[in-house]
This record gives sequence, C-alpha cells and structure tokens, in this order.
Amino acid sequence: MAILKHHAKIERNVSLLFILSFLVVSIGGIVQIVPLFYLENTIEKVEGMRPYSPLELKGRDIYLREGCYVCHSQMIRPMRDEVERYGHYSLAAESMYDHPFQWGSKRTGPDLARVGGRYSDEWHVQHMIAPKSVVPESIMPSYAFLMNRQLDGQYIGDLMRTHRIVGVPYTDEMMENARADFLAQADPDADHSGLLERYPGAQTRNFDGQPELTEMDAIIAYMQMLGTLVDFSTFVPDPSR
Ligand code: HEC
Repeated sequence: MAILKHHAKIERNVSLLFILSFLVVSIGGIVQIVPLFYLENTIEKVEGMRPYSPLELKGRDIYLREGCYVCHSQMIRPMRDEVERYGHYSLAAESMYDHPFQWGSKRTGPDLARVGGRYSDEWHVQHMIAPKSVVPESIMPSYAFLMNRQLDGQYIGDLMRTHRIVGVPYTDEMMENARADFLAQADPDADHSGLLERYPGAQTRNFDGQPELTEMDAIIAYMQMLGTLVDFSTFVPDPSR
C-alpha cells in the first residue's frame, strides 16, 4: 500500500521523523493551550472567597512549616465516596489565594479541606497536644509545643506583602492594619468591626484558651476557617464551564 511505503521513508529518516513528530506534538499542545486564552478566567469566581486574615495566614504558614501537608490533603475529589465523607467537592476558587496550594498528594490522615467547624476548639487543642487521647488509634505526632510559642505579629506585614507580590489582593488598608487585625482576632475583648469588614466571616475568639497569643491560636484559627468561606447552600455551578 502506498501510504505504508511513505511510512517506511519516515522511519528511516531521523530528521524527517523528528520534524513530523514535532509538528504532531505542537498541534496537540496548541489544541490544549489556545482555548485557555479565550476564557476570561480559568477559575470560576465564587461568592465568599477572600484572602486569609493575618492570623489565618500565620496558621497556614505554621501548617506548611510543620509539614502537615505530608499527611493531609486539602482537595476533595468529585467522587461519591469523598463527597459523602468530606462534603462538597473542592472548587478551584477555594485555593485561589493559596501560594502554594495545599492539595497534597498523600492521605495518611483525612482530608482537611472542610475541617472548619467540624470540631470544637477544645477538641483541636487536645488533639494537637496528644492525638491519641481523643483518637486512640491515631498515629499523628504531637504538636504540644505550639502552645508555648508566643506570637507578637512583628513580621505578619512581611508575610502578607510576600503573598501580595504573588497575586493575593491584600489592599493597602489591609496592610496598614495587618498587625492590629492579627492581634485582635484571638482577643475576645478587642474591637473586631474593622477586622470583620476586611475579612468577612472571620472567626474571632480565644482559640487555644490561654491568655497569650500562640501558634496554637493561629493554627486552630486556620483550621476552623478551612472550607467555611463558600456557602454551598447558595452555590450554583456555572454550566458554561
Ligand atoms: C504522620 C502523619 C501526620 C502528620 C504529619 C499530621 N497529621 Fe493530622 N492526622 C494524621 C492521622 C493519621 C489522623 C487521623 C487520626 C486522628 O484524628 O488523629 C490525623 C487527623 C487530623 C485531624 C482530624 C481530622 C478529621 O477530620 O478527623 C486534624 C484536624 C489534623 N490531623 C491536623 C493536622 C495538622 C494541623 C498537622 C500539622 C501541624 C497534622 N495534622 C500533621 C496524621 C498526621
């Protein structure tokens, strides 16, 4: 057959094979990439997502530092077993302010994308200090030392500035109030009106039950926020995507 004869020619000529392979791969690439230029945004906007409050951001920083992502994912896949166990599948927009995102690749422990509000603060404190005391079969390590590491928010502005550089829309007003908001969130006696205006839905209370502001406050503030920003009772997926 004629076409097979031509094929033999291609197989015997390395340069020709390379040029034609390159063409085929390029077409494949263009087909995948070009449509993205015509989408206004590859991330569907959803109501409720906002940049993390200073204290939540610090908690997230501790989460990264301690390697929680090594054992925990933050990405609920749209499969029935996952949705039944963890809740609504994760939306791209829910990690739009994560640099880097915390989807993870291993679940030694459960997914944490919607752990916010699932347990009380007291449970979290107890679980972080001695995981086995609340879940006897747990192999999670203890993070009791977070209770003793006090925070003063000295560098929180720098952390927020870093996130702003990579695209998180922290406003000048948020930057100016960074440290005040940081200190106010875990202080039940502080005035929270400015904080709540800048970060709607932020939870304000003494998270770890100690008078001092500690890393335990920050990580619990972060965990109690996870998955709570988008209201799924009103969320309607955009069918054009
Ligand atoms: C060595 C692996 C490992 C590491 C590292 C780890 N965890 Fe866990 N985690 C687990 C396991 C296993 C469980 C399930 C048993 C339990 O609840 O303790 C768990 C459970 C949890 C739960 C309860 C989740 C639920 O839905 O029941 C939370 C919250 C949690 N971990 C937070 C963290 C945080 C925050 C860090 C980092 C400071 C962390 N974990 C680090 C293994 C780990």
